[in-house]
Amino acid sequence: MGDMLVTAWDRKNLLQLEGLTRDELIELIDLAQTHLDVVKRKEPALKTLDGKLVANLFFEDSTRTRCSFAIAARRLGAEVVDLSTTGSSVSKGETIVDTAHTVEAMGVDAIVMRAKPSGAAHLVAQSVQAPVINAGDGRHEHPTQGLLDLLTMRQHLGDMSTRTVVIVGDIANSRVARSNVHALTTIGAHVRLIGPPTLVSKSFESIAQGPGSVIVDHDFDVALEDADVVMMLRVQLERQAGGNIPEDYRELYGLSKKRASRLKPETIVMHPGPMNRGLEIDSEVADDASRSVILQQVTNGVAVRMAVLEMLIPSS
Ligand code: CP
Repeated sequence: MGDMLVTAWDRKNLLQLEGLTRDELIELIDLAQTHLDVVKRKEPALKTLDGKLVANLFFEDSTRTRCSFAIAARRLGAEVVDLSTTGSSVSKGETIVDTAHTVEAMGVDAIVMRAKPSGAAHLVAQSVQAPVINAGDGRHEHPTQGLLDLLTMRQHLGDMSTRTVVIVGDIANSRVARSNVHALTTIGAHVRLIGPPTLVSKSFESIAQGPGSVIVDHDFDVALEDADVVMMLRVQLERQAGGNIPEDYRELYGLSKKRASRLKPETIVMHPGPMNRGLEIDSEVADDASRSVILQQVTNGVAVRMAVLEMLIPSS
């Protein structure tokens, strides 16, 4: 994204994980960890953001991110206003920036935004005074997904430095992969990006920062033997991935029960959702509670979004 960026983590906005330090990443997931009992309804909701108003602007479909930002805000005592393309004046051609200005003029305290163009959240952050949280922008980043993934890995494996994380599938179209690569390499983990040459290129090896590393390869069967984490990605048919999928994609890159049986006993299986069952992951693996942490990722997502809202919305 280059120099056009508003600072990644200026404690006003959360636009990307690229550029956050190890300490900043750890601070965010430490705070999220403290909210888990509230998320699991073992402790009462908090009042930290009592009287605040969060705008959820989702100009691209979402189940997990949209619901969990709304739930996170409410668990902190804030109210939520929810907007999508359908049913808003975006469908009449109003720009995303004008829409953000409009909701800001109504007195919102933070804007959570998902949009199709890469860089959309940055554009809005440059235009409004309210904190902006990127809930996924095109192929660029999905920072709260990267944080919830990091928290989930730490819960199972402890310190992730020197661990090996294998991310498999449609890397080229994946903002989840980019956010994970930035966070994991900053923490010191070794990331192996696996997929067909049409969906992952060697250029990803140069985006690593910090002590960790990135290797691009195309052989899942070799990579899975060393994996501490296997993260399966959705083939994003809506982002032109369809034409780039080889006919034998499932055989070469799908996580079948047979393939999963070759993983180390402690290796965890992740997926950001939504899943294409029977394509990138088989149901026997996705639903295997001894390895699959997919629903734990969802639960952690609420806690991470609570932490981010709490950190960015100034208390009155
Ligand atoms: N993982 C994720 O972003 O899922 P949604 O598209 O359902 O929000």
